[in-house]
Amino acid sequence: MKKRVLSGMRATGKLHLGHLAGVLVNWKRLQNEYDSFFFVADWHGLTDNPENARYMKENIRNMVLDWLAVGIDPDKSTLFIQSLVPQHAELHLVFSMLVSLSRLFRNPTYKDKLEDLRKGGMEGGVSLSAIRDVKEELERKANEELKATADFVSTLKDREAIFRKLKGDVMSLFYGFVDKAGERLIEELLESSSFHSIISYGFLGYPVLQSADILLYKPHYVPVGADQVAHIEITRDIAEKFNRLYAEVFPIPEALLTETPRIPGMDGRKMSKSYGNAIYLSDDEETVSKKVMKYITDPQRIRKSDPGRPEICPVFALHRVFNPDETDEIYRACTTAQIGCVQCKRRLAEKLNHTLKPIRQRRKELEDSQIDVFEILKEGSRKAEEFAEGTMEEVRKAMGMDY
Ligand code: TRP
Ligand code: SF4
Repeated sequence: MKKRVLSGMRATGKLHLGHLAGVLVNWKRLQNEYDSFFFVADWHGLTDNPENARYMKENIRNMVLDWLAVGIDPDKSTLFIQSLVPQHAELHLVFSMLVSLSRLFRNPTYKDKLEDLRKGGMEGGVSLSAIRDVKEELERKANEELKATADFVSTLKDREAIFRKLKGDVMSLFYGFVDKAGERLIEELLESSSFHSIISYGFLGYPVLQSADILLYKPHYVPVGADQVAHIEITRDIAEKFNRLYAEVFPIPEALLTETPRIPGMDGRKMSKSYGNAIYLSDDEETVSKKVMKYITDPQRIRKSDPGRPEICPVFALHRVFNPDETDEIYRACTTAQIGCVQCKRRLAEKLNHTLKPIRQRRKELEDSQIDVFEILKEGSRKAEEFAEGTMEEVRKAMGMDY
């Protein structure tokens, strides 16, 4: 028997290079080795804003077309939609009794909300002084960081720019950048009542729903990026609690930490739809080339005769992932000033277009064939539901509520 993996993606619409390198490449590989379940987490897409429902259908269509175009194969993996398998909601409800509020408040997924804060979208909800506190703390950190290491950061004169840059990568707040004091400060902000007034019950329960998503399918592994590890931890805790309280129903799943290279966007920040800095899998050749030309490079490299610093250059980061064969050569050519940035970018654009060409073609074929991705997803959802209902029967029985 093959081991089982399960993973999900929120329905964000068209996918970009970050998704390709971080998730889809892994799914594609895994589907050959494992009994794979991949699903669209549409309910999760409502947790930060219920109005997202309006775009859900179109987002799912676009996202799943990308899955298929990349080679995620419905004959190999079970592809389904969370909300078409109502057992997710049922198990979520049961699990919601097994996790304490304080556990949920400590969950670093609040990073998403911090992200909103960064964009200034929440200033009405959070007290300005709280924002100022965090800002000051971050600035202090930025200055420390500047003194201590970052060659790159130390070249930036503008403190505000440093601050924006550091804050831009919100992940780093939780993974290594801030120390304990910084974390506490952020926690305090997140627990303040003004913050509570703008987050929903569903948002707080995000990892509980995710636990249900996972445990229904009793997977051995859950392939995810490092940002999801905290959620897998909560999942394991909930599984253990259920098993202890009622009966051994759930095997304890493990995160399968897939390699997720950091893919920078045109502005050097992490590639993200919300930053408007992304190269989409469905972008045409010309658009890809234009976007590559817009990338920032080593800011100190003004003339072609200046040696560059590939290690801080976003263009080089992309070469590394999408053009591994030429990476060493480009490194050498850049550091010895034998290649100009324009030429370097041209080579990247060419390589990206080469990689994206078959994906684009396949997407077009799928669109031309008038394929209905919802038919595929409904089919997969039926299979998923069969499995999920099996688990729910065990759950009801273990609880003595199998009337
Ligand atoms: N939280 C995941 C993300 O933001 C999406 C997700 C929802 C998920 N349910 C899941 C991932 C279950 C793995 C397993 O990327
Ligand atoms: Fe970046 Fe390439 Fe320019 Fe070097 S040559 S700084 S790697 S774009």
